[in-house]
Amino acid sequence: MGDTNSPDTSAPAETPSDAELSSGSESRRNALVSVLTGFLSFVIVAIPSFLAGAFYLDPILRRKKSGGAAGGGALDGFIKLDATTDSLPDDGTPVAVTVKSTLDDAWNRFKDVPVGSVWLRKQPDGSVIAFNSICPHLGCSVNYRRSDDDFFCPCHTSSFDLDGTKTNEVPPRNMDELEIITATDGEPGKDGKELWLKFQNFRGATEQKIPV
Ligand code: FES
Repeated sequence: MGDTNSPDTSAPAETPSDAELSSGSESRRNALVSVLTGFLSFVIVAIPSFLAGAFYLDPILRRKKSGGAAGGGALDGFIKLDATTDSLPDDGTPVAVTVKSTLDDAWNRFKDVPVGSVWLRKQPDGSVIAFNSICPHLGCSVNYRRSDDDFFCPCHTSSFDLDGTKTNEVPPRNMDELEIITATDGEPGKDGKELWLKFQNFRGATEQKIPV
């Protein structure tokens, strides 16, 4: 029968030494520092990258939202002129009007930029016709010649009737008529007084009307 008071001679349970405990704690600390450093590095790189991307994409996104020169709908692509049906003489005398539009470059928007000019005429039935003032011969400006009541280009003597038909052999085609409609408060209507124009230039020195 053994002595129950004799000392326990079995092997003691292994416990981590202070050095091992210290080493494990330091490893966890290093891991935490690595995670935090990685996260901060991501934030430092990601936020400026996101802001830079938004800055460079902004003009493209804005252009998609803008939807055309005249704000979309039936007037999409039309430009409102600084003239109304009331401002044109009832006798059909032509009036020159500068066409102004909003132009966008990559990051800027410029309002009321002159892009061309047109001759407007009120017809006997009250409707309005519009001609691009650029001569279809070689691109000078066509004038209204009061003495002959016709259109005349001083560069090489092209001449045209008031309906735009050429009256000599200098120009290759008639004056370039443009689409024009009336509107009220931006809504197309028969009795509207606002004049909205679809402005377009065409290639010179050709019989065909070729948009440029
Ligand atoms: S450019 Fe007008 S006549 Fe030649």
